[in-house]
Order: sequence, then structure tokens, then C-alpha cells
Amino acid sequence: MQNFDYQTPTRLIFGKGVISALPEVMKPLGQKILLTYGGGSIKKLGLYDKVKELLKEFEIYELADIQPNPKYNPSVLEGVRLCKENEIEAILAVGGGSVLDCSKAIAAGAKYDGDPWDLISYKVKAQAALPIVDILTLAATGSEYDCGGVISRTETNDKIGYMDELLFPVCSILDPVYTFSVSKKQTAAGCADAMNHVMEQYFTEDTTLLNDGFCESMLKSLMVNAKKCLENPEDYTARAEMMLCCTYGCNGILSLGNSASGWPCHGIEHALSAYYDITHGEGLAIITPRWMKHILNDRTVGRFVKYGVNVFGIDSSLGQYEIADKAIEETYRFFESIGIPMHLREVGIDESRLSEMAHHVAVNEGLENAYAPLFESDILDILKASL
Ligand code: NZQ
Ligand code: ZN
Repeated sequence: MQNFDYQTPTRLIFGKGVISALPEVMKPLGQKILLTYGGGSIKKLGLYDKVKELLKEFEIYELADIQPNPKYNPSVLEGVRLCKENEIEAILAVGGGSVLDCSKAIAAGAKYDGDPWDLISYKVKAQAALPIVDILTLAATGSEYDCGGVISRTETNDKIGYMDELLFPVCSILDPVYTFSVSKKQTAAGCADAMNHVMEQYFTEDTTLLNDGFCESMLKSLMVNAKKCLENPEDYTARAEMMLCCTYGCNGILSLGNSASGWPCHGIEHALSAYYDITHGEGLAIITPRWMKHILNDRTVGRFVKYGVNVFGIDSSLGQYEIADKAIEETYRFFESIGIPMHLREVGIDESRLSEMAHHVAVNEGLENAYAPLFESDILDILKASL
């Protein structure tokens, strides 16, 4: 087991009606709040009005229209401007991962004198950040319990995962009822995203029975509960378990002591979303089984056997490669069964820019150091197999 140094300072308040804690949570953070949200789902949910009512004693400024795959320009820049001009003391992010991620970049940018891209691109380390509280409305990314945000810069086709321990939310308010209205497409994509977060931590070395058990349970829970949520979007128990699974997905708790895996599927998917603005979870679902096939060899087959037997219940008396092939097939079939388009062409991506994207990933994502090292030609093969 590898050494580690781990801290997740975020307070989680979970369950039906927990939004009532909002004023108490915000009070110590200051009077001037920047409320950030997306394209309007929180208004349809009645959440916008609820937040305004609960925070009527506070001075609220707003940044609306944060898009999926949140953009540096205009959203991050506009948020930083609002914070600086109005001496904002805390950010309240209400929405899915995109709103949370954008708010994290704003939180750091608001306390930095230069171009916020210096921070996101790791040219400069942030020295301070505004405190962030969030009310999550979509179970997927785990942004509510980690210190990362993923920001896209359209003009350079960059989509960068920006992490800084200053960016853990102070508190995440998690009421599964607010996820009842999430569409089938986003519910399935959220499930695929969270499943891939687990796989990125599972397929590596120095794994333990403990971590493998966490990961295998999470994968099973995500698959069972995603189907329940799709069948009955208002199944509270299923939405609640989905939400908790997703929350655990990304803050490293599933892989404490494991070797770094390199998060290869995310590295590749970031290029798909950066070049074509596709839904993150769909891109991951398409890439994952092709990546699995590509890295299956004598060194990795043992992990696939464990995955196949413990997650899908495949007969352990079969040959190693037979189990591995079945496990990869089951992975593909599951994503397909929850309605995810399983080919790049179905999400609007053709062969024209695959080489350019493979080069971009090879230069920017460091996947030659992944658990199963990926060079430019490997990345291109995976992309071609995903068409
Ligand atoms: O914009 P609004 O109107 O709010 O609509 C959103 C958006 O269109 C909608 N939505 C959210 N909650 C809803 C709802 N619709 C109905 N009812 C609700 N309750 O769903 C759409 C997608 O929202 P988005 O926030 O983009 O989805 P998600 O939470 O999946 O976030 C995806 C982003 O997170 C990044 C991804 O790369 C992508 O940019 N990630 C962030 C991570 C992190 N911070 O740790 C890790 C992940 O690996 C991921 O990369
Ligand atoms: Zn993800």
C-alpha cells in the first residue's frame, strides 16, 4: 500500500428538506453572496425562489447561464468580475457539476490579481479562494465533495481539470428530491460518469481488498439504482443512493493507498468534450469499453477477472480471457441498456479530427504514465474503435 495524506473538509448535509439549513450555513461566511446557476432548471424546480426566500437577509448577486462543460469565457471571467466589483464574500452554487466547477474557478480567480487562466492552467498556485457552498441538483461528478473543477476554453480546445485544496466546498447541501427532474439522458450520463470515476480508481496496482470492495459495491449500486431512477424518476431511495454513490466518486477515498492510475478515460474524454462539446458521461461510456479492450493483456487480465466475477457475477471457473471479454461486453451492454449512444458518430463526432484529438491528449494528459500506458497511437486506436 502506498503512503497518502488525505483530507476532505467538506460538510455534507443530506436528505429531504435539508435546504432549511442554508441560512445557518451561509451566515458565518459573509453577507454578500454570489448565487451561480445554469440555464434555468433551478427556476423550473422552484429552487431559485426557495433560495432567494431563505437568504432574504443577505445581499445576493447572480451569475446565470453557466453551460454544461462550463466555459472560461464568458462564465468564469464574468463571475470573477462580479466578485471583485461587488466584494463578494462567498459563492452559492446551485446546479449540477458544471455550475459547481465554474464556481470553483471563480472562487480562486476572485482572489487573484492576474488572469484566472494562470491558476486553471497551473502556471500560478492560488493563495486564497472565496468559500463555496453548493446545492446539488444532478448526481454525477462528485464535484460537491472534491476540490476539482473542469473548465473549457473553446478557442484552444482545452478542457482542463483544475484541482486545488482551497476549492473544497465548505458545505454541500444534498437533497435527492432536487434530482427527480433530471432527464433520462442526464441520469444515464451521470451514472456512466460516476461508474467511470470508480473504474479509473479500480484499474490500477497496489489495490486492496478494502478498496476493491468499495469500488465493486459502488458499481453494483450505481447500475441497480440508475435503472430504478430511469423507470421511476421519483423513486426517492434510488435517487438518494445514486446521489451518495456519485458524491463518493471523485475525492480519492476509493483509492487511498492504490497506485495512481492516470485516469485515462477522463483524459481522452476531455478532448471529446473540448472539441465537440458533448455530454461528459456519454463520452466516457463510449470510450470505456474500447479502452478496456485496448489495455487487456497478461498484465491487466487479473483486474478484469476480479471486476467480471465480483461486479457482474461471471462464472469464476471460466478462463481468464473469457471472463475478461464477458466483463467488457457486460460493461458495454449496461451502458447501452440505459440508453446511452455507444458510438462517437451518434454524438456527432466523425473521423475528421480523431488524429488531432489523439495528439492533443498525448501532449496534454500525460497518459504515458497511466496504469496501462497510452501513447498517441494507442489513443488514436481507442478513438477509432469508438467511432
Ligand atoms: O443548466 P441547467 O438549466 O441547470 O440544466 C442542466 C444541464 O443542462 C441540467 N440539470 C441539472 N440539474 C437538473 C437539470 N435538469 C433538470 N433537473 C435538474 N435537477 O442538466 C444538464 C447538465 O448539467 P451539468 O452540470 O453539465 O452536468 P454534470 O453534473 O454531469 O456536470 C458535467 C461537468 O462536470 C465535469 C464534466 O467534465 C462536465 O464539464 N466534471 C467534473 C468533475 C469534478 N469537479 O470533480 C469530475 C467529472 O469527471 C467531470 O469531468
Ligand atoms: Zn467524470
